[in-house]
Amino acid sequence: MIKLSNEINNVGGKLGLSFSEDLLDSSLIGLYPKLDFDNISSSTLIAGDNIYSLAKLASSINDVVDVCYIDPPYNTGNKFLYHDNRKSNSSNFFGTHSAWMMFMLPRLVAAREIMKPTGVIAISIDDYEFAYLKILMDNIFGENNFIGNIVVCRSKNGKGSNKNIASTHEYLMLYGKSSLAKLNGCLDDTSIYDKKDEHGEYKVDGLFRKKGEASLRTDRPNMFYPLFFNPSTGEVFVEPGMGLQPAFPIDSKGIERRWLWGKETARERSWQLYASKKGVVYVKNYSSTDKRRKVRSFWDNTAFYTERATNEITKLFGDKIFDTPKPLSYIMAILDVIGQSDAVILDFFAGSATTAHASAILNSNDNGTRKTILMENNSQIPETHIARKYGCNVISDISCARLQKIKLEFPEFEYKVY
Ligand SMILES: C[S@@+](CC[C@H](N)C(=O)[O-])C[C@H]1O[C@@H](n2cnc3c(N)ncnc32)[C@H](O)[C@@H]1O
Repeated sequence: MIKLSNEINNVGGKLGLSFSEDLLDSSLIGLYPKLDFDNISSSTLIAGDNIYSLAKLASSINDVVDVCYIDPPYNTGNKFLYHDNRKSNSSNFFGTHSAWMMFMLPRLVAAREIMKPTGVIAISIDDYEFAYLKILMDNIFGENNFIGNIVVCRSKNGKGSNKNIASTHEYLMLYGKSSLAKLNGCLDDTSIYDKKDEHGEYKVDGLFRKKGEASLRTDRPNMFYPLFFNPSTGEVFVEPGMGLQPAFPIDSKGIERRWLWGKETARERSWQLYASKKGVVYVKNYSSTDKRRKVRSFWDNTAFYTERATNEITKLFGDKIFDTPKPLSYIMAILDVIGQSDAVILDFFAGSATTAHASAILNSNDNGTRKTILMENNSQIPETHIARKYGCNVISDISCARLQKIKLEFPEFEYKVY
């Protein structure tokens, strides 16, 4: 703990930001869980102020996190469920921004301790704190470890009160913990993607029938159900229809196994399935997710728009129970670009737990074993807020509610809440 305090004070000192001695109050840190990293679930949620959870992790274990993704409060001054208005009267060089910097600095220093030397941190931010975050990151992670910024288009028409420019973008700022860090960006041979549909080029090399451990019908009876395929086009459907033939997850030895996804997921993503003429069902492997190339610094994809995230959260819960979720496809893209399929992922501003959901979908798509550690505050939700209708009294209840939904979608997903 002394090392962490020293590090926080060192960086703070360089920037003229000073911290009170009781910032890392050890009696509070003592209340937070010590994680057994050899035994962590698909997702672990630690509820409470992340400064204590991070300090506890940093004091008990170093170098375990491969990917850190965070979406901190942007300091917009808006009335969200969480505190988003940290402005100081400071005469410090950074003026009103120093309060936000002092909030972020110790958390970033602690997160760095927990990351592997090969680890990468990606931070969502908009123009208001962008420059101040860059200064913090240069001083905490080092200018040499700056990987780059990605400009992400968040809406078509833009937002904000600026009378001249409607802002349609935000940033994803990327740093490595050391020079050993790198993104998953390298070229692949495109010629192997021998099929094409409206979603892009793809190959069929991954069975939709589960193989190996826990692959029997008896392991997951609800994942044994008929699919229906068109032998001339390879299209797959969940419901029977004219000219369609049934397909079951039965292997070449006649053993009844199970599909990779439950029926509802298969219904939503049937476009991702392909059946051979003999009725063997595959998950299409699209070149865009598998062909590794250098990451581009401008992401303009309608699936990454804010309205997508709002629709997703509303569809999931029946109401918009959280103000500022990120879209699933966007977080999936970030995790895929940065980390391997066995990455340990930390999100210490978890909100509605999109990161855990994105990770579970990626795991189901590529048989990965990603694990997420989430941290979210226990701030009270006002009694009149719609989230209360869904039994959420504090913000971490919203993260928890999303974890329950993920479990329903992916039965193999396990989570723990501290
Ligand atoms: C912009 S939101 C993150 C949204 C998230 N990416 C999603 O997709 O839902 C920021 C979150 O950080 C949380 N937060 C802010 N300060 C925190 C703290 N000190 N400890 C833990 N969580 C905190 C807020 O409650 C809020 O839910």
